[in-house]
Amino acid sequence: MELFINNVSKQFKDKNAVNDVSLHITSGVWGLLGANGAGKTTLMRMIAGIMEPSDGKIEYDGIPITTLKGKYRDIFGYLPQEFGFYPEFTVKDYLEYVATLKGLTKKDTKKKINELLENLSLENVRNKKINKLSGGMKRRVGIAQALLNDPEVLILDEPTSGLDPGERVRFRKMISEFAKDRIVLISTHIVSDIEYIATKNAIMKNGQIIATGTTDELVQEMNGKVWECEVSTEQLPEYEKKLQIVNLRNEDDGKVTVRYLAEKPFSSESFKVKPRLEDLYLWLFPQETNKEVK
Ligand SMILES: Nc1ncnc2c1ncn2[C@@H]1O[C@H](COP(=O)(O)OP(=O)(O)O)[C@@H](O)[C@H]1O
Ligand SMILES: [Mg+2]
Repeated sequence: MELFINNVSKQFKDKNAVNDVSLHITSGVWGLLGANGAGKTTLMRMIAGIMEPSDGKIEYDGIPITTLKGKYRDIFGYLPQEFGFYPEFTVKDYLEYVATLKGLTKKDTKKKINELLENLSLENVRNKKINKLSGGMKRRVGIAQALLNDPEVLILDEPTSGLDPGERVRFRKMISEFAKDRIVLISTHIVSDIEYIATKNAIMKNGQIIATGTTDELVQEMNGKVWECEVSTEQLPEYEKKLQIVNLRNEDDGKVTVRYLAEKPFSSESFKVKPRLEDLYLWLFPQETNKEVK
């Protein structure tokens, strides 16, 4: 089971949304990380077969995906980032409808829907209309429809947007179990959503893949660049002005522990800490720092 993306590009008028991307994706959970506008959705739409590359080709087990035709819907499951529902349908009716489109038998449909509603904690709302559901529930219905045909390749574009912390934990657990002997590709700009479940990560910036590897491999680059230092609230503004801060933690003694990224320590009290994927991400996307730090 392998997906080969060979020199794929997508041009929109004068915008090169995806620029000469090559990736060899094998079974496991893959995190596609990148800031908004990096090109993740465009790349995923091409892999999901709903948009043609301007250049390059995509193959699944040696077969160009454009020639898979009907077989394609047996192999792939896709959750788009912008997911249009049929708001007047109930959850169950909607899933039955998608199952018909995907060619499932009546018997398989019933079994599969029951299983998914249970795994995604949606049993209580099975007869509710979709437009009556919360954002997180709608997202879970979207994940359910992508899983209906038990796909070998599951493509989820920002699957965790709108999920609350509990839903995020359940989602990660479900995907980890599902991913055995399958390919799961998850795009996100929230590092913590994939840090612990992704077998591999691909980091995308300006339409290109700028790094791939396991989380451990990727964070190597940040060794010796992540520092922590305890400062008083009076000292804090100076640190905030001069440094790329990735986290602030209030301590019991009224001081603040500052975590920052730098080639060299800013002060003699700073000590080196073990890098995390989020540190690398913010190093690569410094403009995201203000948005991501909570
Ligand atoms: N249909 C389109 N027409 C023109 N430009 C587009 C279209 N789709 C995406 N883009 C542009 O391509 C770039 C990548 O977008 P997108 O793939 O949505 O990135 P991401 O999912 O990482 O946020 C952005 O600059 C976006 O504005
Ligand atoms: Mg997107």
